Amino acid sequence: MPESSAVPALSALPPGVVTLDDHERAAQARLDAATWAYVHGGAGDELTAGRNRQAWQARSLVPRVLRDLTGGHTRTTLLGRTLAHPILIAPTAFHRLVHPDGELATAYAAAAQGAGLVLSAQATVTLESVATAIGADATRGPLWFQLYWQRARDAVRQLVARAEAAGYEAIVLTVDASSSGARDRERRAGFQLPPGITAVNLKPAPTTSAPTPGDSGLFTRLPEGAPTWSDIAWLRSITRLPIVLKGILHEADARQAVHEGAAAIIVSNHGGRTLDTTPATATVLPRLADAVGGAVPLLVDGGIRRGTDVAKALALGASAVLIGRPVIYGLANAGAIGVAHVLRLLRDEFEIAMALCGCRTVADLSADVLLQA
Ligand SMILES: Cc1cc2nc3c(=O)[nH]c(=O)nc-3n(C[C@H](O)[C@H](O)[C@H](O)COP(=O)(O)O)c2cc1C
Repeated sequence: MPESSAVPALSALPPGVVTLDDHERAAQARLDAATWAYVHGGAGDELTAGRNRQAWQARSLVPRVLRDLTGGHTRTTLLGRTLAHPILIAPTAFHRLVHPDGELATAYAAAAQGAGLVLSAQATVTLESVATAIGADATRGPLWFQLYWQRARDAVRQLVARAEAAGYEAIVLTVDASSSGARDRERRAGFQLPPGITAVNLKPAPTTSAPTPGDSGLFTRLPEGAPTWSDIAWLRSITRLPIVLKGILHEADARQAVHEGAAAIIVSNHGGRTLDTTPATATVLPRLADAVGGAVPLLVDGGIRRGTDVAKALALGASAVLIGRPVIYGLANAGAIGVAHVLRLLRDEFEIAMALCGCRTVADLSADVLLQA
């Protein structure tokens, strides 16, 4: 379907899909092997990708009983907004790879479920069309634009200005991908973007100077393409939107992010797709929460597949969570309905986990309900 169509086509959910892992299996059966390698794979030996999932599972929830849950709810606040629940869609590239409705379907589903949406810089529909599609929906969650630094500052300026004009409410600068990871599974499968699937919001990058013999190609290109701490102040100076830094794992970086004026931090290892063997996000989250001491909200992503994982993330100090791959699986399985289903399942499971832990509001989720093993 062309991206200009007003209403995306809906598809039916495959039978027997009642969890996010069911969505994963159904999507694998539906997608060709190379596309599956791209959306599912991680970097290197995929240790980080596996650790993310295992680290949530390794923590136990210790229920509290006989508490009064009258008036309980999952609402929370984030950057000045009230959210129906603390679940956002992480930025993931190229949604039209898995469904012709692409990011428009994802956006409709996010809005229908009151979930925040972080649109990837590598979206396959225009950022304006997504904002137009859901901008006026009164019950939608926050709409943020994810930025990959561009070689020319002017290109950054133009993208940020477009996002601001279109009504995006924050800029999420991804800082953990100055180089793409060694994605072996993807290379083995010979993945290539099919014709017609492109990052339509980005201008083709200007060609870089060829490395001289003996130079590292990567490090020769980096200074032009990768932002540094000194760029954060400049980025803040060109927009009134809050800047969220995505991809921080180290306490010192978290402290510096606060110092440089970040409005929030996303604790993330890119779903294990950049540097392999990093710690799981659940493992570092409590340390980062200590390091920032509540100065800015922390969000977390990586391996969140259950409502119990969401409860654990909040208990460990996150204000909200983001989910990446399951959204693509839902999209592949049934377009907007599939994504809405993924979000609904996670919301319902999260509500059950809160109630059974004796938590009436998200503020009641603390380390008190957690056991490490
Ligand atoms: C197929 C795919 C594409 C992604 N594209 C982007 C992107 O364009 N920008 C970005 O900041 N992160 C990107 N990510 C990382 C996600 O935002 C997120 O950090 C990660 O998927 C969370 O882990 P999960 O997939 O286990 O939920 C991508 C992840 C996947 C799986």
